[in-house]
Amino acid sequence: MTAEATIPASAAGASSEPLLRTDTLRVHFPITEGILFERRVGAVRAVDGVSLEVRRGETLGLVGESGCGKSTFARAVIRLVDATEGSIHFDGTDVTRLTGDPLRRMRRRMQMIFQDPYASLNPRMTIGSMLAEPLRVHGLAKGEQAMKRARELIEIVGLPRNALNRYPHEFSGGQRQRAGIARALAVQPEFIAADEAVSALDVSIQAQIVNLLSQLQSEFNLTYLFIAHDLSVVRHISDRIAVMYLGEVVELSPSRELYERPLHPYTVALVSAVPIPDPKVESKRKRMILRGDVPSPANPPSGCRFHTRCWLRRELGDPERCTVETPELRQLAPEHGVACHFAEELAGNERRDQLVTAAAAHSNVRDTDADEPAKPTGASAAPASDPDSFFPGDVSHH
Ligand SMILES: Nc1ncnc2c1ncn2[C@@H]1O[C@H](COP(=O)(O)OP(=O)(O)O)[C@@H](O)[C@H]1O
Ligand code: SF4
Ligand SMILES: [Mg+2]
Repeated sequence: MTAEATIPASAAGASSEPLLRTDTLRVHFPITEGILFERRVGAVRAVDGVSLEVRRGETLGLVGESGCGKSTFARAVIRLVDATEGSIHFDGTDVTRLTGDPLRRMRRRMQMIFQDPYASLNPRMTIGSMLAEPLRVHGLAKGEQAMKRARELIEIVGLPRNALNRYPHEFSGGQRQRAGIARALAVQPEFIAADEAVSALDVSIQAQIVNLLSQLQSEFNLTYLFIAHDLSVVRHISDRIAVMYLGEVVELSPSRELYERPLHPYTVALVSAVPIPDPKVESKRKRMILRGDVPSPANPPSGCRFHTRCWLRRELGDPERCTVETPELRQLAPEHGVACHFAEELAGNERRDQLVTAAAAHSNVRDTDADEPAKPTGASAAPASDPDSFFPGDVSHH
């Protein structure tokens, strides 16, 4: 399932240029003060120097707690928000500052699926006209031609025939998400950013939608950026996973390796919060508790942004380097990058287990502190189901 091995045959002959590439992408939102004379007093550094590639035909997972900049990154790459700095290349073309017609043409090729399909679907439009609309806007089909295509789309995403004449509110959450997917597919995009697309759904429905996305990917040779705050959802569909923290990528690795051998202390904590189906294993497991919330991206901590919450730093006796020097994303294994000065400490199983055990003990002690309630990571909201039952039928990703 790692890297090249999973790229569909149809994409194998394509150029080695990734479909999407960002280079030190920054998206800063200005903070202003004053009413008559607005002046800029700072900036929310939502995305702060992200360099990522999404290869043709792959699914790149993007995880991290709420507020880490995942949605802003997705919105920037499909040009819904402007980049402050850095660049975005799509299919070899610099699209960072594209406007007008070229932007509209490019937009057809990149679509987005949102968490709340109801909010992104027009409640006054039938599913049929909602699917026909983008075809008309992009000049791809109209009239009976467009309705024919809408019928096809309905079938592709597994909605009943009569869905065409019905309204979004008549559907269940899962069906609405199917309609959202159909709408994204209508214009035959190459790239889809799915932003928490299954996060609001029940576990069993989540699995169905993930399966559907997976089937559509091989059928239409789609490339996905799959975003979730919950690692247990992302791992099953992703070929590679990028972990974001406060606007930066702190780890990037093939999916299984990230899960089995995380090298960044933040990822270790996220992984530790994913439930394991075997109750015997689960009861013996060390759960890392990340204390406090994500700091404000308007005023990120110095040096390593994770240092205010880093359990590894505590175990290592608070080295000064963490607070003064920003760690770069370093390649520690093939295809495996990590932005931590001390990631080598977590590379060997024995040493890692020793550190994790010690940290877990300390975090349990701190857990009972009255000052600040220890907060499990976003990943802990994960359903306690068998994560390996996500692909009951087709297990093409593994
Ligand atoms: N339009 C905006 N104006 C100002 N701040 C924003 C805007 N959009 C997002 N942010 C801020 O940027 C940070 C990252 O948000 P977001 O990209 O939504 O994170 P995530 O999707 O990981 O939860 C947050 O602090 C959020 O409040
Ligand atoms: S550089 Fe220091 S603070 Fe940052 S993740 Fe590594 S050990 Fe923790
Ligand atoms: Mg988001």
